[in-house]
Amino acid sequence: MNKKITVGIIGCGGIANAKHMPSLAKLEQVEMVAFCDILIEKAHESAQKYGNGNAKVYGDYTELLKDDRIDVIHVCTPNDSHADITVASLEAGKHVMCEKPMAKTAAEARRMVEAAKRTGKKLTIGYQNRFRQDSQYLHKICTDGELGDIYFGKAHSIRRRAVPTWGVFLDKEKQGGGPLIDIGTHALDLTLWTMNNYKPKVVLGKAYHELSKKENAANAWGSWNPKEFTVEDSAFGFILMENGATIILESSWAINLLDAQEAKCTLAGTEGGADMKDGLRINGERYGKLFTNHVELDSSGVAFYDGKVENESDLEARLWIESILNDTEPVVKPEEALVVTEILEAIYESSKTGKAVYFDNKVLSY
Ligand SMILES: NC(=O)c1ccc[n+]([C@@H]2O[C@H](COP(=O)([O-])OP(=O)(O)OC[C@H]3O[C@@H](n4cnc5c(N)ncnc54)[C@H](O)[C@@H]3O)[C@@H](O)[C@H]2O)c1
Repeated sequence: MNKKITVGIIGCGGIANAKHMPSLAKLEQVEMVAFCDILIEKAHESAQKYGNGNAKVYGDYTELLKDDRIDVIHVCTPNDSHADITVASLEAGKHVMCEKPMAKTAAEARRMVEAAKRTGKKLTIGYQNRFRQDSQYLHKICTDGELGDIYFGKAHSIRRRAVPTWGVFLDKEKQGGGPLIDIGTHALDLTLWTMNNYKPKVVLGKAYHELSKKENAANAWGSWNPKEFTVEDSAFGFILMENGATIILESSWAINLLDAQEAKCTLAGTEGGADMKDGLRINGERYGKLFTNHVELDSSGVAFYDGKVENESDLEARLWIESILNDTEPVVKPEEALVVTEILEAIYESSKTGKAVYFDNKVLSY
């Protein structure tokens, strides 16, 4: 295929440098032609490293969006600008990959879905954990019905002490929330996708501000400042789905638990179960005995071949660009990310009011 897909990056910070730009750079059909950051030197650095030679640099994304050469925008800015930048990009005729979480609120996320529908442009969200080997395999066996009817799921996003202390992660206004919206979003996305269940009925949740109050706390990225820590440090949700399935969501950046697991899920169905401990484990019952299978994700079983596969960020970028080239639906559909956003918002709402949130009265667009 000769057509080049031209990409503009908005927000040239951590995730753009760690994921988007290195993975896009590996795709021969892609040229990165425009870079924008309010800290213009960051855009210049990115253009120098990843630009196609004629790349342009902008400090204002609305100027970048006037550039007719651009087919696709990757939105890599803090959460509070996802909706506005995505909607403006779609309306400027670009396809959009927006980083997770989709938006700060469900209303914003709905606006993004509507803009994609209105403009006929593609929209996807950066849930790269779906593209891990374990997730891909688990999704396949769930789709094939190997676990039977899945009636229980757990979405795990637990860090014992790893509060992101850089950027605006602790700022409620900019981010909309803490670990629930930041990492709980990945685990819930993975759980709903593998269960193929996007119809919540009732949500009950509770957010905590406990360890966030501690001075000089032990933390992977250095102690946080309790005065700046305006988001929750942990949040938990109980989600009852329309078909009777239950999902428990646990998320934390700092909690006194040894069982740290992030962007993982556990599933239980009528024919078997699965978890992501020590790789991917499938459990069940056969010939009157219980079994646990460890899936060997890295080995190909072929001599002199190390079995290394495309990493999740590369696979995410490749399939996204292919969905544009082939005009097919992206793997992560915006309507799915909207349901994730609606459930996260319901957990925050339930925590505030002390009441369960019923979806019966909500207008779900999925
Ligand atoms: N997929 C993942 O696992 C993952 C991991 C980390 C971050 N993220 C998401 O990526 C987003 C960015 O996080 P980050 O860690 O890269 O933050 P960051 O602070 O490192 O980078 C954000 C960049 O955006 C720039 N920026 C802010 N507002 C802008 C605007 N209006 N126009 C242009 N540039 C603007 C900032 O100057 C900064 O350089 C967040 O939404 C976060 O949740 C996703």
